[in-house]
Amino acid sequence: MLKKEDLKNISFNYDAAVVLDVLRATTTITTALKNGCRGIIPAAGVEEAKELALKDPGLLLCGERAAVRLPGFHLGNSPLEYKAETVKNKKAALTTTNGTKTIKMAAEKAGTVLIGCLLNARAAAGRLKDFSGDILLACAGTKNSFSLEDTLAAGMIIKEFLLLNSINNYSGRTLAAARSKNTSIYENEIPLNNNLDNQVILDDAAAAAYRLALYYNSRTLDALYDSLHGQKLAQMGMHDDLIYCSKVNSCSIVPVYKNGIITT
Ligand code: MLT
Repeated sequence: MLKKEDLKNISFNYDAAVVLDVLRATTTITTALKNGCRGIIPAAGVEEAKELALKDPGLLLCGERAAVRLPGFHLGNSPLEYKAETVKNKKAALTTTNGTKTIKMAAEKAGTVLIGCLLNARAAAGRLKDFSGDILLACAGTKNSFSLEDTLAAGMIIKEFLLLNSINNYSGRTLAAARSKNTSIYENEIPLNNNLDNQVILDDAAAAAYRLALYYNSRTLDALYDSLHGQKLAQMGMHDDLIYCSKVNSCSIVPVYKNGIITT
């Protein structure tokens, strides 16, 4: 699924979803938890975040609009702000333009919601081994459209998943982690290669994501600079954010969203 708005059209429940907003919400959340933050409450709106902070004065109030820290908030949405000395043993409420909304929306469609980004692509793929049913890779996208960096991260997770499971029986068809082999797209359809064990089946968005990951491979920073949101952040002087967010497989933490809060 290539943008959060697509979630509204999904009618069936997934075993698990991985939410991806590489620039920058899910990278920031992953970093905060890696640096000892005790939990992050995603808030869809600014008022919701402020209300949470009013109820709990110990809470860090965090978030952005138009990639800029909100007035009066402790932190914005740059992962580089979420250092151990700032976040260790604290909880935070975070509101971002796309990412935190996507997390909440995904929770309505999947039993388990994981937080993914380039940093933890391999680790997230490892966690997906725990789920035998359908997996949703939920890209946040930007303003109701596809975004290169989220789709790349989805593809990286697929790539790592296939490697981890030693799945290489392509036979001309790309395999990936968006659908289980039991999922039908059409009524009375002929199952895809159902005779193969150890197989996962792509939907077309996942196939495209996988191919994108193979194309960029280790040139993830190039991909971020190719993306529109990456160019916007670069124009605002946030080159270090792009460098940091591009560090594929540099982190083993996979945050989980459960009961309204994201923890490890
Ligand atoms: C979002 O949620 O849309 C992003 O994380 C925006 C940003 O780069 O701060």
